[in-house]
Amino acid sequence: MLQIPAGFPPLFNMIRELRWEDMDDIIRNYYSYYDEMENENPDLGLIFYWVKPDYPNEIGWFSNLYQAVIRGDAICLVAEEDGHVVGICDVHSKRPGSEVAHIGMLGIAIIKGYRGKGIGKALLQGMFKACKGHFEILTLEVFSNNTKAYELYRKVGFRENGKLDKSIKRNGRYYSEIKMYIDLTES
Ligand SMILES: CC(C)(COP(=O)(O)OP(=O)(O)OC[C@H]1O[C@@H](n2cnc3c(N)ncnc32)[C@H](O)[C@@H]1OP(=O)(O)O)[C@@H](O)C(=O)NCCC(=O)NCCS
Repeated sequence: MLQIPAGFPPLFNMIRELRWEDMDDIIRNYYSYYDEMENENPDLGLIFYWVKPDYPNEIGWFSNLYQAVIRGDAICLVAEEDGHVVGICDVHSKRPGSEVAHIGMLGIAIIKGYRGKGIGKALLQGMFKACKGHFEILTLEVFSNNTKAYELYRKVGFRENGKLDKSIKRNGRYYSEIKMYIDLTES
């Protein structure tokens, strides 16, 4: 199990690897992002399907994630608080078994109510540690108006390498995405 990197105050319980038993929490969290985007924050910086995937679909998604972790094609860390998963960070190989397998694509999300407490930063720091020997470069895309996420990525060492305007189309409105990367072999 991965420990919180030294220097981080113990504001929450645990950063650890994904477990099969996390499925219900992770699906519930995922649905909470749909609710948040629909009811409170139309600009929420995650990419959504036009129609919320149903539960069987989500079980399939989780199962694929879990299999990718077991195969070594993905790494997934979660933040646990009060016995429940409140945040997730995953890295998937760009194309397993190929010349770009050393590049990992990163995603991260913390549920509302647990943001701004250092969990995102701790998950990313934990992920950098976990990626050693597996992935050399990590890439991500962030909505250009998602200042909080952008600042966090910059702070932990990601650099910008491009921008795609009109990258997201949500309810007829366009959003731009900034592309970022970090070379883990440099640190
Ligand atoms: C973006 C997200 C993952 C960050 O995780 P978090 O746990 O809230 O972030 P942390 O508490 O670790 O904050 C770390 C850094 O974020 C930045 N940050 C936090 N709140 C901020 C704010 N209101 N404005 C600007 N920057 C902010 C700061 O740089 C902060 O570093 P500091 O604590 O040294 O000042 C989380 O807010 C989230 O899941 N948001 C919704 C989904 C999302 O946007 N995912 C990212 C998709 S690319």
